[in-house]
Amino acid sequence: MSEQTLPTVELGDGLTTTVQGYGAMSLSDAYGAIDDEQAWHTLQHAVAQGVTYLDSANIYGDGRSERTISRLFAGAGARVRDSVQVASKVGILRVGGAGSRSVRGDRAYVREQIDGTLVRLGTDHVDLYYQHRVDPEVPIEETVGAIAELVTEGKVRHIGLSEPTGDEIRRAAQVAPIAAVQTEYSIFARDVEHFVLPAVREVGAGFVPYSPLSRGLLTDDWRTLDNAAPNVRAIFPRLGGENLAINQGLVQIVADVAAEVTRARGVEASAPVSAGRVSVAQVALAWLYAKARELDVRISPIPGTRSPERIDENLGALDVVLDADQLRRLDALAAQVAGPRSANPGWTSQGREGLGND
Ligand SMILES: NC(=O)c1ccc[n+]([C@@H]2O[C@H](COP(=O)([O-])OP(=O)(O)OC[C@H]3O[C@@H](n4cnc5c(N)ncnc54)[C@H](OP(=O)(O)O)[C@@H]3O)[C@@H](O)[C@H]2O)c1
Repeated sequence: MSEQTLPTVELGDGLTTTVQGYGAMSLSDAYGAIDDEQAWHTLQHAVAQGVTYLDSANIYGDGRSERTISRLFAGAGARVRDSVQVASKVGILRVGGAGSRSVRGDRAYVREQIDGTLVRLGTDHVDLYYQHRVDPEVPIEETVGAIAELVTEGKVRHIGLSEPTGDEIRRAAQVAPIAAVQTEYSIFARDVEHFVLPAVREVGAGFVPYSPLSRGLLTDDWRTLDNAAPNVRAIFPRLGGENLAINQGLVQIVADVAAEVTRARGVEASAPVSAGRVSVAQVALAWLYAKARELDVRISPIPGTRSPERIDENLGALDVVLDADQLRRLDALAAQVAGPRSANPGWTSQGREGLGND
């Protein structure tokens, strides 16, 4: 199905994938409505553009994201299965109303959930299975041990962790090889640089930055971001009220860098991105690639979008080079961001490690 080839990266434990993935939470209504055909069209476009890392989870759209991915493998699409790396996750449960979640990481639950994921995906294995959140009631050794059993049984190829602390990464790696750690990382969220990325390097894993566009704030839409419920942005402290206004002011500096890189290309500021104008999202992603080189971490960021054009735009970041002065100005922003990554400090490594945004 793929018409293009993208550069690849070996994360850890022998898992090779493209240097940019697709955040398949966007195949559900997380950031606004998407109908089934638009979801299918967008996913097909990502794969046609050469993206092979598809990031899903059992709870995205209550399984809708996984079911949409299964369409890639149906009928004549069966041969596509081996050319993509499908990631899913276990451990977050919906409880009660919007945004209300709990965590579960016991062995029985992990074993039960993989079977539902495989049925929804229409495949006999996932390439990467993440512990979605660390269960405070269950030692990480039990959860990772349960996923390691699934590796032995052939249902899972590689093990991932989402939002672990640095210490939890080291403990998990004592149980089984960890291929990837996935945590929020962007110009506006740099806390992982303190403990998580050093541990990722130490255990030989790769890193998958989620919400690399700060949930739409680090894009050309920054002035008009829709953060009204039921949109998932409504629950994030940095995307509402006075915090949002402060953070929008910081995006102006990212937009200034985008304008500079556009000028240096000899492209008009009013040109469309498809004609070479550099966007805020492209600068945000190019910054991540620059940090990964500086910090010696192998990454595959996973921007999510409901739009094929934006997949092209986000892949265009691979051609954006930022100079040292631009990187210095972008590096300074996280310290000024108002509001933590999550309203619940226990929910993120940032909260559990007692860190700020920089
Ligand atoms: N492990 C975890 O706990 C966890 C948590 C969150 C997310 N994730 C994963 O990470 C993926 C990405 O994170 P995310 O979706 O939260 O945040 P994100 O990728 O930073 O931002 C997504 C938002 O940005 C918009 N967008 C994307 N590209 C754009 C562009 N070029 N120009 C303008 N707007 C653009 C999208 O809107 P449109 O749809 O309108 O384009 C969407 O609202 C998810 O899909 C999911 O797979 C994992």
